Amino acid sequence: PQKTRVTVVGSGNWGSVAAKLIASNTLRLSSFHDEVRMWVFEETLPSGEKLTDAINRNNENVKYLPGIKLGKNVVADPDLENAVNGANMLVFVTPHQFMEGICRRLVGKVKADVEAISLIKGMEVKMEGPCMISTLISDQLGINCCVLMGANIANEIAVEKFSEATVGYREKKEIAQKWVQLFSTSYFIVTPVQDVEGVELCGTLKNVVAIAAGFVDGLEMGNNTKAAIMRIGLREMKAFSKMLFSSVKDTTFFESCGVADLITTCLGGRNRKVAEAFARSEGKRSFDELEAEMLQGQKLQGVSTAKEVYEVLSHRGWLDFFPLFATVHEICIGTLPPTAIVEHSERTPKM
Ligand code: NAD
Ligand code: 13P
Repeated sequence: PQKTRVTVVGSGNWGSVAAKLIASNTLRLSSFHDEVRMWVFEETLPSGEKLTDAINRNNENVKYLPGIKLGKNVVADPDLENAVNGANMLVFVTPHQFMEGICRRLVGKVKADVEAISLIKGMEVKMEGPCMISTLISDQLGINCCVLMGANIANEIAVEKFSEATVGYREKKEIAQKWVQLFSTSYFIVTPVQDVEGVELCGTLKNVVAIAAGFVDGLEMGNNTKAAIMRIGLREMKAFSKMLFSSVKDTTFFESCGVADLITTCLGGRNRKVAEAFARSEGKRSFDELEAEMLQGQKLQGVSTAKEVYEVLSHRGWLDFFPLFATVHEICIGTLPPTAIVEHSERTPKM
């Protein structure tokens, strides 16, 4: 039988770690082709070398994951069409704002029976309403798309510290099992759950709560306040997910993609870190400025997700039900001060 070919679309911080995990398994498992292709959004390094050439020369993503060998069977490719050509399994892992453009470029370029998975935390809001990234991929390319989310700070998994993740799937359990096989290692434990919307919404919405947690840190309000904000945030995550999709299961919030990702992101994530600096700057710095300065090319998802969630809430008349989500957006755009995170979130939602 033909060996399965895997391509990773994306090569940022998490994209590079995902390629490393997968490459260790394609070498080990005889049903997979050894080579893992990784699409790189090309850029020129300060040395003048192209990022793709540097990755292929050093076997290391010197910009987004310095110091980590990806595996010699990872091949970086700056040509999107060429990277996906012939692939049987596609792993999407870019910042969510770039996915519409990427999908447009991929129409007609992927195998009709290719299986996809999205590791992307975020959503799009269209005229018709909210659209999850896995749905965007499925609809635009006419393919099946699972999701993988979890408490997964990329730099920790890169150095092989133990963590867990959740694969969300729609119907085909056997496909979910194949993704579990492709990602699992001794230090990365993956569990399949039949609730693609619930898993993806957990991963997406926790970034908004992480911004709120960062504000609390910036205001030096302490651990109890931060825990309260996380609890209120989790309650809003669950309510929002279920109001959008009645199929979302309560148990999903207890998987790695739910409460565990919420905890790790509110303790150690980039959204938290930049939101802390925003609150400390007392209105003098914007999120865009701080992101560019503090993350050096890596991207925040929480600020744009808060805006997208706010659009859904206002369009559906749900703003009063979600004081924390709404307040995070209003703080991000400067209409409320960071202190509003506590004053507003503690209001009992008018459910
Ligand atoms: P990142 O934050 O490192 O983003 C940088 C990437 O974006 C680089 O590969 C860069 O080349 C690319 N990029 C910049 N401009 C682009 C453009 N115009 N078109 C296409 N690509 C462009 O990326 P990441 O950490 O791999 O995150 C990808 C997704 O994974 C996000 O949704 C994120 O929430 C999620 N995620 C990240 C982590 C983490 O710890 N980093 C963990 C779990 C999930
Ligand atoms: P940040 O993007 O806030 O770093 O969160 C990473 C993440 O999703 C961990 O699971």
